[in-house]
Amino acid sequence: MADINLLTPGRIDGFDTPNRIFMAPMTRSRAHAGGVPSELAITYYAQRASVGLILTEGTAPSAVGLGYARTPAIHRQEQIDAWKKITSAVHAKGGHIFLQFMHVGRIASALNRYTDEPPVAPSVVKAAGQMWTDQSGLQDFDTPRALELNEIPGVIEEYAQATRNALAAGFDGVELHSASGYLPMQFLSTGTNKRTDAYGGSVTNRIRFVVEALEAMIAAAGSSERVGIKISPAMPFNDCTDDDPIETYTTLVKAISPLNLAYLHALRTTIPNTFELLRPLFKGPFAAGGGFDFEKGNALLASGGADFIVFGKLMTSNPDLPHRFASGADLTTWDAATFYTPGEKGYTDFITV
Ligand SMILES: Cc1cc2nc3c(=O)[nH]c(=O)nc-3n(C[C@H](O)[C@H](O)[C@H](O)COP(=O)(O)O)c2cc1C
Repeated sequence: MADINLLTPGRIDGFDTPNRIFMAPMTRSRAHAGGVPSELAITYYAQRASVGLILTEGTAPSAVGLGYARTPAIHRQEQIDAWKKITSAVHAKGGHIFLQFMHVGRIASALNRYTDEPPVAPSVVKAAGQMWTDQSGLQDFDTPRALELNEIPGVIEEYAQATRNALAAGFDGVELHSASGYLPMQFLSTGTNKRTDAYGGSVTNRIRFVVEALEAMIAAAGSSERVGIKISPAMPFNDCTDDDPIETYTTLVKAISPLNLAYLHALRTTIPNTFELLRPLFKGPFAAGGGFDFEKGNALLASGGADFIVFGKLMTSNPDLPHRFASGADLTTWDAATFYTPGEKGYTDFITV
């Protein structure tokens, strides 16, 4: 393992990767109304096809799962058709691309949605904070309703159907967004999950939703090689808190290790030794993300601490990041002001060198 670096070819169960670089899932808020990804996204993702694996922006598996302005979904045919153009463009350049499923749960505003249904969550716990709406600027999060026990299989089936849709759209696989305080993490965390049934209380019960969603996605994909997961232990984002994140995430990772997933993608947040803690508990490929640069990425790979490194902000402004690393070319600094603004600026207009 000692000679592995960011530019060493790798392998995820289903395919070879030209390097150890993943593009992080990043919401860019350029989709059309109704959750349809834009034509600009074809160029954006194709420009970044030289990474080992592209993870798309968070994409809603259902209308109820969509919470942010101008974000995409994958439950309607016109959405699937638009995604097909994106996967074709990435494949034409020899790249691989997984779709990230982002069911926001309680992190939503009615103004951003195309359904009249209220947001759903494990429990009626409103998130503190606000989100952007194009109509009225920043708005408080809506209060969610709690999912009834007999509704949970239906929510899990939405992930299964979305998996079938993603494969029909040409994706190489799908990633369950179980991080950043969205629905799966709301089930995992004691601050947001106050249930007293089989999906709440003990850690075994709190991880049940995530395990069942992964199992349903694997069954729908027909292969565990096409399913990954992202976690962010102890991330306070979106007002998510947990009494004992180390217990929660060590239990979760042990439970999902036997599923033979394509990879475990872990974002380092407030637990400094996240990777050291979790990697030994997971037998498949391990992708580490959060604040990496060339030196830090190479150091973690060389130490055997991860198999892949996930780059977020640097990928926004350096579409040819593997080439820049290989050639030693200067990196372009990202532009946070255009992360979520419509149009080409800060999206498809960064140069390759
Ligand atoms: C503009 C922007 C949008 C993001 N959207 C998502 C998202 O949709 N899904 C997700 O899992 N993480 C999202 N993230 C987090 C990134 O995937 C990544 O974990 C984070 O940026 C840390 O990596 P970095 O330090 O290399 O940027 C987003 C980050 C940024 C900067």
